[in-house]
Amino acid sequence: MDLAPLPIEAQRPAPDDPVTVLGLESTCDDTAAAVVRVSAGGAVEVLAEAVLGQDAAHAPFGGVVPEIAARAHAVKLDGLIADVMVRAALTFPELSAVAATAGPGLVGGVLVATSAAKAVAVAAQIPFIAVNHLEAHALSPRLSDPVDFPYLTLLVSGGHTLLVRAEGIGRYTRLGASLDDAAGEAFDKAAKLMGLGMPGGPAIEACAMAGDPERFALPRPLVSKPQCDFSFAGLKTAVARAWADSAQTSQDRADLSASVQTAIADCLADRTTRALTMAGDTVTGLAVVGGVAANQEIRTRLQAVARAAGLPMHAPPLHWCTDNGAMVALAGAERLLAGYTDALDTPARARWPLDEAAATAAPASGSGKKGPKA
Ligand code: KG4
Ligand code: ZN
Repeated sequence: MDLAPLPIEAQRPAPDDPVTVLGLESTCDDTAAAVVRVSAGGAVEVLAEAVLGQDAAHAPFGGVVPEIAARAHAVKLDGLIADVMVRAALTFPELSAVAATAGPGLVGGVLVATSAAKAVAVAAQIPFIAVNHLEAHALSPRLSDPVDFPYLTLLVSGGHTLLVRAEGIGRYTRLGASLDDAAGEAFDKAAKLMGLGMPGGPAIEACAMAGDPERFALPRPLVSKPQCDFSFAGLKTAVARAWADSAQTSQDRADLSASVQTAIADCLADRTTRALTMAGDTVTGLAVVGGVAANQEIRTRLQAVARAAGLPMHAPPLHWCTDNGAMVALAGAERLLAGYTDALDTPARARWPLDEAAATAAPASGSGKKGPKA
């Protein structure tokens, strides 16, 4: 089979034509597909989308098991693709391109969506676009809101905690990142310690409703420190100690959930305030993206941070905070409109930093990798 990309003239959309892109996602434990149309004026329409989680399959192991995740993606993805194409009332050759997240993520899973997308590209003779999962999150507020570049992005998910200045498609400058665990990982580990279900973030949020956030004195690592980095590993240790020293009643669980949620919110608010100060008046707003951005207390706190800086906050609706196909399709459409397409031998990548500067730096966990949550 000829693995050369289609000739460039076959790939580039005509200037005033809308682009319609199928986007596929399988980097961790959500299998997702969506068809998104972007008009030349930038209006975004999600024609169809579908997402399937795998929580029940991983629950007995207390975290995401890569082999189980990859198999589940392989079993489910074709059906999701057929479903969204039928609901969008489109055939493959009618698409402008097909996009898949090619990393960072669990590589067995990443291979599922990238292989499917490449097969569609070859069969329908349309361009293939390899999307960075972090760029898909960073662009996700633009699904519902015409957010202008440059904007500061706080990306908080299960594998990453990053503050980046989004300057344009493919152009990101890192201001800070987690030196150890990601914020979502801190939620997930705290939930596991307290015997709450997975994913841990929503479980902690629900449990915290009945809790006292001041009951347990937890650390706020790196708060008030220079730079804009994060650290959450010490928080996990403190939660483990507090839980072990308590009577482990349901009220203890609620109070510790509320305390850890507020500690994480404090860290995110402090570091983001610092990044906004560093960015000065060079950004148009604050975008809060990734699974942890679905947390109501965190949204409210960051809303206040943005307001204090005199800037709007943009956060996607909750179902576009966690992994989804629409953000991948949008990133693919935006990359196509910006003139980027990818060769069919583009690899699936376990690591793929968002900013070029970090590509040469030593990798920090929580900053550009996505590993198993188990
Ligand atoms: O973006 P995402 O779906 O996958 C990754 O790219 O990692 O994020 C998943 C993470 C998990 O750690 C999950 O516990 C967390 O997002 N999360 C939440 C909430 N919903 C999901 N954390 C706090 N509060 C939530 N409501
Ligand atoms: Zn994600």
